[in-house]
Amino acid sequence: MPKITVIGAGFVGATAAQRIAEKELGDVVLTDIVEGLPQGKALDLLEAGPLFGYDSKITGTNDYKDIEGSDVIVITAGIARKTGMTREDLLKINTKIITEVSQNIARYAPDSVVITVTNPLDIMTYVTLKTTGFEPGRVFGMSGVLDSGRFAAFIAMELGCSIRDINAMVLGGHGDTMVPLPRFTTVTGIPITELMTVSTIQRLVERTISGGAEIVNLLKTGSAFYAPSAAVTNMVEAVIKDTERIMPVCAYLDGEYGKKDIYLGVPVKLGKGGVKQVIELKLASDEKKALDRSAKAVMDGIASLKVVN
Ligand code: NAI
Ligand code: 2OP
Repeated sequence: MPKITVIGAGFVGATAAQRIAEKELGDVVLTDIVEGLPQGKALDLLEAGPLFGYDSKITGTNDYKDIEGSDVIVITAGIARKTGMTREDLLKINTKIITEVSQNIARYAPDSVVITVTNPLDIMTYVTLKTTGFEPGRVFGMSGVLDSGRFAAFIAMELGCSIRDINAMVLGGHGDTMVPLPRFTTVTGIPITELMTVSTIQRLVERTISGGAEIVNLLKTGSAFYAPSAAVTNMVEAVIKDTERIMPVCAYLDGEYGKKDIYLGVPVKLGKGGVKQVIELKLASDEKKALDRSAKAVMDGIASLKVVN
């Protein structure tokens, strides 16, 4: 059985562990800084196995030694965004946490593929790369799969159609500058630009961009976790099963899209070993402008790390 570690046993981490176990993608190790929390949630999940018929072993621990031999590691450790807090507000606290987590990954699981989830996502993924010192293809972040899922859900609601045939595409940073791409978003191959008016599409685009905040405003004490954990699970599955699915992923760019030494949401081929290929789309000038703006916001965040450190 592959070994999948989820670091951070909070809402996203524990729900991801549940989904990964239910799909039997591997044995799951759940870790957290809080004593008893990962052990309690892991035991609870293990006890659900006989009822749901999954055979994954799930263990909880506070000891990084137990992540040894992990094939995939998902980082959800950190503070979640609360009402009135921007993702960038999280920068300071979460940089410290991700640095510590990444040092332990490099020490105990040097061959793992790492998926960062903690916000501010693009910047935390950059911190993960620089701290682990892994090859860039083995370190990437979860954002576009979630944001595209939200866009697809809103399109299905608007058209009154099944979600099954919708393929949505959202690029850029996981923040207010993200770039939903209607031209590359289809229902059974039909671009949504053929199915909805410009103003309807614009409304759905805006709802997608503020999709995270919409949930925060409703929950008040935390942020989304059902859709985020589903997005994580799809990405873990692509790596573990080497599916080579093409997904929008927060990936390291080394010249692609004219950007260097930055993490940004772009379509990639995901499989064994992580990102196998970054796919470069021919963007129209307004799309390119929006992606440049998003890259600038991420670059500013990366630059501000120097101030934080
Ligand atoms: P949560 O607060 O429920 O869980 C975070 C967990 O991390 C807690 O159990 C906490 O004890 C643990 N933790 C804190 N410091 C730690 C350390 N040094 N080592 C190990 N564990 C540590 O938060 P939630 O809702 O699970 O969100 C987790 C993170 O994921 C947040 O930063 C949130 O903003 C982000 N997120 C990102 C999404 C994305 O699209 N990339 C989507 C949803 C959440
Ligand atoms: C989200 O988009 C909070 O980034 C998180 O739900």
